[in-house]
Amino acid sequence: MKYEDVVYARRAINFFDPEKDVSEEMLDKVISLAAQAPSGFNLQPWNLMILRDKAKKEKLQALAWNQPKVSEAPITLIVLADMDGWKSGHPTVEKNWKEMIASGSMTEDKRDWFLNATQSLYRWSDAANVAFAVKNASFFSMALMYAATNYGLETHPMDGFDHEGVKKAFNIPDNFWIPVLISLGYRKPGVELHDSKWRKTVEDIKITFPEG
Ligand SMILES: Cc1cc2nc3c(=O)[nH]c(=O)nc-3n(C[C@H](O)[C@H](O)[C@H](O)COP(=O)(O)O)c2cc1C
Repeated sequence: MKYEDVVYARRAINFFDPEKDVSEEMLDKVISLAAQAPSGFNLQPWNLMILRDKAKKEKLQALAWNQPKVSEAPITLIVLADMDGWKSGHPTVEKNWKEMIASGSMTEDKRDWFLNATQSLYRWSDAANVAFAVKNASFFSMALMYAATNYGLETHPMDGFDHEGVKKAFNIPDNFWIPVLISLGYRKPGVELHDSKWRKTVEDIKITFPEG
């Protein structure tokens, strides 16, 4: 699909076909396309918990405003944003460091500079730490939804859920923030979509502030 077609075809879908599964191969294709999303210093602080099991999805649904799509979709994803994903010793940080050295974009003597740079950007406050993880995982989430649309799948992002309750129920460690849940599957046959919702205009989006 052309990019513009993908963008206009993606909709937050409420009615999934519970009979039509998404194969593991298809899911992997979606994830590997989404994995091309950009991230600060290429740190990629995101993970996915993949829920296919009906009982697990129902457990999640009960913590997500009882939204039926959570268990009707063949897959619901818990997107995890890793707040430790900038720290020295973290496996992805170390892998990233090795890759940067191997590609020549970084030299060994810059290690302290690199660690100080990530610390100063991402850990100057608790809010900055959450923002680091959530902004990157949100780019990944958007990329995942467009990837799904590209392959003829439907998605629905949700932040209507009990954050702490989901963490507890699914044993999610404290270094993770959950920016969003995403249901993934095929649209239920016979369900008509409403017209696309309104969007802010380009002029609404552009803004300036008087400089002091
Ligand atoms: C971060 C985020 C959280 C959302 N949470 C919910 C939700 O909990 N329940 C729901 O029905 N829709 C949720 N939505 C879907 C939005 O309502 C929907 O994307 C928006 O109305 C625009 O519609 P469209 O995606 O079909 O263009 C969420 C969307 C985003 C991006």
